[in-house]
Amino acid sequence: MIIAVDGPAASGKGTIARALAAHYGLPHLDTGLLYRAVGVTVARNGGDPDDPADAAAACVFPDSLLDDLALRSEEAGPLASRASRHPQVRAALFERQRAFARQAGGAVLDGRDIGTVIAPDADAKLFVTASVAVRAERRHRELVARGEPVSLAEIAAELEARDARDMARADAPLRQADDADLLDTSDLSIGASVQRAIALVDARLKDR
Ligand code: DC
Repeated sequence: MIIAVDGPAASGKGTIARALAAHYGLPHLDTGLLYRAVGVTVARNGGDPDDPADAAAACVFPDSLLDDLALRSEEAGPLASRASRHPQVRAALFERQRAFARQAGGAVLDGRDIGTVIAPDADAKLFVTASVAVRAERRHRELVARGEPVSLAEIAAELEARDARDMARADAPLRQADDADLLDTSDLSIGASVQRAIALVDARLKDR
């Protein structure tokens, strides 16, 4: 059983994917972390994430990097988004994600192109979204709690720029798969979002 969870930045897809994995007893892969590892590696190499050769050279990184808190920083998101536009980068990360999705027993993956490219055959697909204002407020609260002072307006502008870039790229752009269920969490608590996600997945599993 494969569950695909896609959506824009700070939509709550990561939280929902982790909760689904716990509920159904499945392993979970946050695929954004792989792109963040590439973006951070480019920056550490002194390279340019907009340059395809620099970005491709950064696709080999130690697994231990995936635990590095630097990947969760505010700067890592745009670096990942810029590096992820290059087809060479997407190709380099493809097999790892595909193998995770296809492991015996199933998996939950979250990202931008899970339902469209990595696991088009997924048993259930969610497209998780929320208004820019709500997503910016959630991210702002997180950053304030971590002691990273960034203005709400700056966060909103960064989210919009990142989503626009992720949707506009030619290779595996962010979009809702035709057979994905839309889950708008703008007016839902985390608990209510998770309950709704489980109900949507259960309905899809019944139809199999
Ligand atoms: O989900 P996230 O915010 O950690 O993702 C960071 C960036 O990585 C995102 O803006 C675009 C890229 N990404 C992608 O292109 N494909 C994915 N499956 C996951 C992330």
